[in-house]
Amino acid sequence: MTSPFIHPATTSALYRDGSRLAARTSALHQAKIRGRPVADVIAGIATAHLPHPHQAIVADLGCGRGTSSRILAAHLRPRGLLAIDSSQAMLTTARARLTDTATAVIYIRADFHRLPFGDGVCDLVVAAFCLYHAPDPRPVIAEIARVLAPAGIAILVTKSADSYRTLDYLVAAAGLDTRATGRPSLYQTAHSGNLEALTAPILPVIGVEHEEHRFAFTGPDHVAAYLATTPKYELPPAMAADPDAIAAALRTQIADGPVTTTSTVTYVIAGKGSFP
Ligand SMILES: C[S@@+](CC[C@H](N)C(=O)[O-])C[C@H]1O[C@@H](n2cnc3c(N)ncnc32)[C@H](O)[C@@H]1O
Repeated sequence: MTSPFIHPATTSALYRDGSRLAARTSALHQAKIRGRPVADVIAGIATAHLPHPHQAIVADLGCGRGTSSRILAAHLRPRGLLAIDSSQAMLTTARARLTDTATAVIYIRADFHRLPFGDGVCDLVVAAFCLYHAPDPRPVIAEIARVLAPAGIAILVTKSADSYRTLDYLVAAAGLDTRATGRPSLYQTAHSGNLEALTAPILPVIGVEHEEHRFAFTGPDHVAAYLATTPKYELPPAMAADPDAIAAALRTQIADGPVTTTSTVTYVIAGKGSFP
């Protein structure tokens, strides 16, 4: 079985407009009780590794709603920021959220397998929570290596394959998807356990950081708000996008108390090694 995250039809439905990703991000954000904001960590790593951030050309691959792009623009104030995504709707959302920056931002609709710029033009390439949309992330990492300047760095970010595992058991126990615990991880192709090994033969790895994030959903309604946005499970069609129906099914299994779960976020920092 393969992850729905690598099926083009599922992925384009997920990112057809910004609302589903925004709802998913919001449900997770409200539940988070431990873990640094990912965009801030990325900006911190970039600042530590780039000798002249203000002169840098930065590419944010799979920029989505522009969460990392915004923080990178604010913290690094780079010479230019290339916000790249295959979804026009995501680029439109990112553009609307990046109004208060002095950085020149160029929004480019492109597939990260074929970046529409020349060799060695980027000082920093960020690929956060998107490489697992590639059936094989290695060609994408090779493309990142191609566009990186000799002293440039790449920051690749993903989650652990067992992210939000508690929810699998809950979904199965509530009868929402009796095979939930056997469904493939959404992060199957690029996760905390394989991203360093995928990267190293293509782009030398400078460092790896893992951080466990903890989540406490307030109760069935909060869990349901998240479940209605994830393609991981095969929920009954009438329920799939109906948080109230999902919550009612969950109430048969859990009381109105918190549901805790975890996800490890992994940052792989890589570069060609020609540092000044
Ligand atoms: C979960 S969002 C990540 C958003 C953002 N990087 C962040 O950290 O908040 C994944 C993004 O990857 C984009 N994406 C998926 N496949 C892609 C591809 N082949 N080329 C470029 N972008 C892609 C999706 O459209 C989506 O906006």
